[in-house]
Amino acid sequence: MDKYLGPTDETEFKTLTERREELEDAGRNCSANPTMGDIINRRFSRRSFIGGSLAVAAISTTVSPLALLTADEARAEGEASPFDFKEIEAGVDETHHVAEGYDADILLRWGDKVFADSPEFDPLKQTADAQSRQFGYNNDYVGFIPLEGNPDHGLLVVNHEYTNAEIMFPNFARVEKVTEDGKEEDKVVLGEYTKELVDIEMAAHGGTVIEIRKVDGKWQPVLDGKYNRRITATTEMQLSGPAAGHERVKTPSDPTGRKVFGTINNCAGGVTAWGTYMMAEENFNGYFGGELAEDHPEFKQMKRLGTPGGQYEWSKFYDRFDVSKEPNEANRFGWVVEVDPLDPTSVPKKRTAIGRFKHEGCESIVNRDGRVVLYSGDDERYDYVYKFVTKGTYNPDDRAANMDLFDEGTLYVAKFDEDGTVTWMPLVHGEGPLTAENGFASQADVLIDTRLAADALGATKMDRPEDVQPNPKTGKVYVMLTNNTKRKEDEIDAANPRAKNAFGHIVEISETDGDFASTKSRWDVLLKCGDPSVAEVGASFSTATTRNGWFGMPDNCAIDAEGRLWVSTDGNNEKDTGRTDGVWAVETEGEGRGTSKLFFRVPVGAEMCGPSFNPTSDTFFLAVQHPGDAGLATYEKPATRWPDFRDDMPVRPAVVAVTRQGGGKIG
Ligand code: FEO
Ligand code: CA
Ligand code: CA
Repeated sequence: MDKYLGPTDETEFKTLTERREELEDAGRNCSANPTMGDIINRRFSRRSFIGGSLAVAAISTTVSPLALLTADEARAEGEASPFDFKEIEAGVDETHHVAEGYDADILLRWGDKVFADSPEFDPLKQTADAQSRQFGYNNDYVGFIPLEGNPDHGLLVVNHEYTNAEIMFPNFARVEKVTEDGKEEDKVVLGEYTKELVDIEMAAHGGTVIEIRKVDGKWQPVLDGKYNRRITATTEMQLSGPAAGHERVKTPSDPTGRKVFGTINNCAGGVTAWGTYMMAEENFNGYFGGELAEDHPEFKQMKRLGTPGGQYEWSKFYDRFDVSKEPNEANRFGWVVEVDPLDPTSVPKKRTAIGRFKHEGCESIVNRDGRVVLYSGDDERYDYVYKFVTKGTYNPDDRAANMDLFDEGTLYVAKFDEDGTVTWMPLVHGEGPLTAENGFASQADVLIDTRLAADALGATKMDRPEDVQPNPKTGKVYVMLTNNTKRKEDEIDAANPRAKNAFGHIVEISETDGDFASTKSRWDVLLKCGDPSVAEVGASFSTATTRNGWFGMPDNCAIDAEGRLWVSTDGNNEKDTGRTDGVWAVETEGEGRGTSKLFFRVPVGAEMCGPSFNPTSDTFFLAVQHPGDAGLATYEKPATRWPDFRDDMPVRPAVVAVTRQGGGKIG
């Protein structure tokens, strides 16, 4: 598609995934925080690297694809080539594509065995017991933890974010003509839920820890690996940190306020320096049903988070997911969970010190003073970017000493000023407005109500912060801002410079002198995303970026062993951008800054998640999430049922291992 300015208001079929995205808007930030409304882009206009693309925009509304090809050819001759691979063509079809000279092998699919004695996957005979011993659904975060430092042998840790009942349960959904607002349209209608189906969904959530090994250049799971583990929406967990044991996290089944069952909507995540697996709980609100009276003390914070979202039917069968019956249960979700993958019997811990919101991810880095800094985006339109700095320091010689580092420290929220300063504001009870008279009686209140506390501090409302990734090589931090089509002209600010931001952007934070614990940093915009050949879009890729190289909707990212940035996307499709989601390599330094190249693309309907390298960067793990979730096309074109096309086989999300043919580093 050559011109796309943003979504239209036409009524159209919505996939479950699209409805999920609507849910992300359910808890809209109604705080009075300034958006610096009349500061329109002054800082932006000064940036030299933006100048190139603005110049493109100024001379024509459409840059000839030939001109872009010429740029590509120039780069192919070795001038300013940031990443040494031949870019693939952007497009949409039923399968995946990777750059020439690389293999992309499916490593694990939904339903695959996690243990030697797991049942074989049978989509027509799904059970919760079977699912709890098989690879879960919708793989998002992927991390690799080497065993004994071996880059070719380790633990793959994978989040299973959510379930698409419409495509995972054969014959559960059907297409019907539905009349809404006087308009007739085709809609996918789900069947009647049973407790058995809900239990399968619960077992398909959570995460997987599985040993994998490279044999003759190909990765394979080790099914009798002693660390293999499934974590689900019913796994016993512990609340730890300042909010553990508080009255507001006690429930009828847990009077201690410390014992929780399950983790849900684990989107992106992280792996720590001491080899623990961090799972971010994102849109937990959607799993809760029921109603809460407006005068209930939890009503205000629940509304701020869009709880109850009512997207799933779990509350019909489990009272704890009904806020009218057990309102405190929802306060036990929305945290970051830390798992020790080297002890499969360990109880995962929900680290309350890191705050409660819709955590997209939780990537961390050891600061030069030994403290650990963890970054997390709150993925909702107009929500915030956070970091957490531990009080204690990392001990490389004593793993056990690091295991509770995330229970003590300071949580900060970011304010992005027009002059290029980031101020990291502490969320500490008793400081500033975070006092009892403003509703924060303790640090537990500050953490349970993180969004309200950040509202009170005047944090900057961002365009859906997703993955936030520190780069150990450069001291910079990359913030993926996926989109915000609701931002109005008078809500533009320097860090969110476009109204109706359909394609998102990437903000680059430069922590002062490489000190990740700094409370004053600098920021810049690395990229405004979208098609740079359409002037109205206002994208800012370098002019060396080809027609395949631009992307929209940055979601996750990874830094390779050489410190280079790779970005995966969520939301590109045939109609809007003429391309599926994928992974793009993005140059951040030097003359090539802002140049992007397409490395891998997913099958139709999928989003691209989990970019993660092994320590030597000769393997790139990618997660293909909800392939085939392409609206009615899911039903009309079963060939989209990648990677197992069989009439009775639902589509299977999968983790892919990308390696270079003949070996060697990716890139
Ligand atoms: Fe689960 Fe914000 O994507
Ligand atoms: Ca995401
Ligand atoms: Ca990441």
